[in-house]
Amino acid sequence: MKLTAILGQVVKADGMSGAMLNEMVFVGKKRITGELIRLDCDMATILCYEDVSFLKVGDPVERSAKFMCAELGPGLIGSIFDGLQRPLKKFGTFMDTQGDCPSLDMDVKWKVYNSKSGKVAKGETIAEVKESKAIVHKVLAPCDGEAKIKNGEYSVNEVIGCVVCDGSKVDVKLLTTWSVKIPRAYREKHVPSTMLVSGQRVLDTLFPIAKGGAGAIPGGFGTGKTVTTQSIAKFCDADIIVMTLVGERGNECADVLKSFAELVDPKSGNSIMEKSVIIANTSNMPVSARIASMYLGVTIGEYYRDMGYNVLMIADSTSRWAEALREVSGCLEEMPGEEGFPVYLASYVAAFYGRAGYVDTLGCGSGSLTILGAVSPPGGDFSEPMVQATKSVVRSLWSLNPELAYSRHYPAVDWFQSYSNYDLDGCDKVMDDMRETVKKLLEREEEILSAVRLVGYESLSSEEKFVLYFADLFKKDFMQQSAMHKVDRYTSFMKQRNMLEAFLTYFESGLISIRNGDDLKDVVDKSISEKLSKMKFSEQEEFGDVAAEIEKSLLHEKEFVDYEELSERLEEEDK
Ligand SMILES: Nc1ncnc2c1ncn2[C@@H]1O[C@H](COP(=O)(O)OP(=O)(O)O)[C@@H](O)[C@H]1O
Ligand SMILES: [Mg+2]
Repeated sequence: MKLTAILGQVVKADGMSGAMLNEMVFVGKKRITGELIRLDCDMATILCYEDVSFLKVGDPVERSAKFMCAELGPGLIGSIFDGLQRPLKKFGTFMDTQGDCPSLDMDVKWKVYNSKSGKVAKGETIAEVKESKAIVHKVLAPCDGEAKIKNGEYSVNEVIGCVVCDGSKVDVKLLTTWSVKIPRAYREKHVPSTMLVSGQRVLDTLFPIAKGGAGAIPGGFGTGKTVTTQSIAKFCDADIIVMTLVGERGNECADVLKSFAELVDPKSGNSIMEKSVIIANTSNMPVSARIASMYLGVTIGEYYRDMGYNVLMIADSTSRWAEALREVSGCLEEMPGEEGFPVYLASYVAAFYGRAGYVDTLGCGSGSLTILGAVSPPGGDFSEPMVQATKSVVRSLWSLNPELAYSRHYPAVDWFQSYSNYDLDGCDKVMDDMRETVKKLLEREEEILSAVRLVGYESLSSEEKFVLYFADLFKKDFMQQSAMHKVDRYTSFMKQRNMLEAFLTYFESGLISIRNGDDLKDVVDKSISEKLSKMKFSEQEEFGDVAAEIEKSLLHEKEFVDYEELSERLEEEDK
């Protein structure tokens, strides 16, 4: 088994008969990791995931007889890995991998408790380990049978007990492995319908995603993909975050690590790292390793899903992954598809997002894996193949608009180009009605604006002028959200609801009083807009019942604001 050709990250070796497709191999004297991606008689084509610059024809190639696997067990949470799951320890402008070391610390002793004896089913919890302040790691039965697990202190590689099945004994360790390209098993997948509260107002109000859903956030350079996905990672209500940074610059990754380490989860008071796993493949690492990091991220996500957690996996940016696929496909001299991407790009993308889901786990519980991918098409061109492939599989799409970004309207989520097709239950009816009202309001604004272009602002009715005024206020003080402000960067669901109620009460009361003959300039009340503007920067307890105050100041006789009726009326006016 020797190297016969080196074509970049792709190399060829002979004497490989009996090897398996996707088998992991070690190439050259430094034993760099590679994967068998094509076999032709005894000739193998291998994709190397590490630096190939020192390889020579004739160098040895060693088989491993196993697939590329993730090492799974306690110690993942709080770790930072590269695409090959080697811990990255050195923070700085560039981060160096630590040579050939195990993924999980083999020396740490974990306290195993709640261990089970007796009959168990495959996937059932047979012991627990407190992995971090926020996460209890569940050890799952490897098969049906009779469990004999003992409490105690164990390192990940020690046997903690066994499960006896049909007379044969399966040893149980904290450490297990799983082939990254194969989705982990579950009992049943359901249509996701519980909302993942992101804490970002424009997303939760207009385009909410479900736990177990798949979403994408396409946008050109500098439109805010990284800031938005990071904000979601930091503040959303998922139990576990798997952050996969693909092909970003080293210092950008270092920034992420620093901000994750410093940030405290607003709900639990713990550091965010107590519930996060970070996988970083910076732009200075071999391009092919980006492919590995995507699969590693999603596998770790599924692993915690199987313990019954709601996991969010974020990939920033999936376009760097697509570029890696293109590069490898080029080395293999495959027939290129659109824009040089491999013809199977769409099926790879579909398979990747397909691993998201809300499932009944094998162990009879339920868990979810939500996948959110940033897409960065060159030149911000959304007709590009990766955006198109992604759009056809995700059900939530948050398109970032460069014009909004340039005018510093952040998050620059385009309200006409974005959508979410999840049917969420458990949300309250009032919130649903308010959502509809906001969508109608934005459409109505657009229509009035096109009328203004034709006939000028002065010929608008007072009511139309008020709609424009309000829409502007709403965009500035509700939809815009600063990721840098210590209160504004995260808005709880209740606060969002309160804010919406206050804003829409102003809208409805304003429309009513204009209809009752009040002057526009009295309705466009500075003190009200000031009150509304302050809401996003204050804690919920500080602002009281703004909606009631507004109603009182605008309406002489108190009229009840019905958001459903308001939304219907806007629709009628559209016609
Ligand atoms: N929600 C936000 N609040 C404040 N600033 C933002 C926000 N979103 C984006 N920005 C600004 O836009 C810049 C570029 O965002 P970034 O996420 O790095 O873009 P991308 O990843 O799309 O290239 C950030 O450095 C920041 O100044
Ligand atoms: Mg970015």
